[in-house]
Amino acid sequence: MIILGIETSCDETSAAIVTTGKNSQEVTLLSNVVATSLSLHTKTGGIIPEVAAREQVKYIIPVIDEALKKASIDISDIDTIAVTTGPGLIGSLLVGVETAKTLSFTLGKPIVSVNHLYGHIYANFIKDPLSKDVIEFPAVSLVVSGGHTDLVLIKNHKNFVWLGGTRDDAAGEAFDKVGRLLNLPYPAGPVIEKLSQKGDSQKYKFPHPLIDSDDFDFSFSGLKTAVLREVLDRKLSKSETVDICASFQKAIIDTLIVKTIKAARKYNVKSILLGGGVAANQKLKESITLQINDNLSGTKIFIPTKNLCTDNAAMIAAAGFFNYKKSSWRDIDANPESYFI
Ligand code: KG4
Ligand code: ZN
Repeated sequence: MIILGIETSCDETSAAIVTTGKNSQEVTLLSNVVATSLSLHTKTGGIIPEVAAREQVKYIIPVIDEALKKASIDISDIDTIAVTTGPGLIGSLLVGVETAKTLSFTLGKPIVSVNHLYGHIYANFIKDPLSKDVIEFPAVSLVVSGGHTDLVLIKNHKNFVWLGGTRDDAAGEAFDKVGRLLNLPYPAGPVIEKLSQKGDSQKYKFPHPLIDSDDFDFSFSGLKTAVLREVLDRKLSKSETVDICASFQKAIIDTLIVKTIKAARKYNVKSILLGGGVAANQKLKESITLQINDNLSGTKIFIPTKNLCTDNAAMIAAAGFFNYKKSSWRDIDANPESYFI
């Protein structure tokens, strides 16, 4: 099966081609093209939905053309189209959804509606040429993006149980808001990660909210307020800035890891799957891998490559394959507030 994936939920416009066998355990990536309007949003310190949607309109056709070209296939070779229908920004989502519906109608091919968060999880099911490890169930997935922080138990492809999530700010959102307090460019996650390398993560004792709570919930807004208190009304030296970055990053990472390991233990999982933009953070990757290897023998950790952690259409095509529910273009609509499960 050849799947065209389309992702336009926020500020990335992406199209990808993947292939699969009938009972495949993973999908093979042929192309994954991502255009982003990020440089425009950096100027405004965050995303203006109207601007993001207009950029989606500009990019969508060239991006699909490029994905087909890179995969060396003709549009008529596609068997199905998988498209993100939500959650996301309505204006951005509509561009991808209407394009997918038009293609489905004109080509006479089925369409699959994909939840963006499932996409982040299924990025782990894209074949990694450097690894022979296979994902086994039950698995627990930590989805950490700009809009979400969720822990999900995956019993099998058809049985997902939401364990908990953030009560306020998402992990990526906390990175971006703290970045704003420190006058760093948007999105601040990668910038804070880089500055943290030169900082002392023990210097500031920031809170680790809900780290010991019995549930699988998160809360990062108190952490953000603690940073605000530290920086309010004063000019920070370079060394203070890097120490704040490192200490803040440590507080987030420690909390994410403790909760993920707790969920993995409770449900005796065989695999842990990370996904979402924050999973691109090298420090998070190294620390969680180390702690799982030390504390959970027999549990394997899977983390997509950096370009598959941030928004992309390959993960949408993969999710479309494993959650294949054939629909007609008439039945698909954008839903900016679609729930995870
Ligand atoms: O998954 P994603 O690309 O888009 C959403 O679905 O939200 O995630 C974007 C988020 C942003 O908040 C960004 O600051 C964060 O992921 N992010 C990072 C890193 N790279 C991106 N956070 C921490 N460390 C990184 N290296
Ligand atoms: Zn995302």
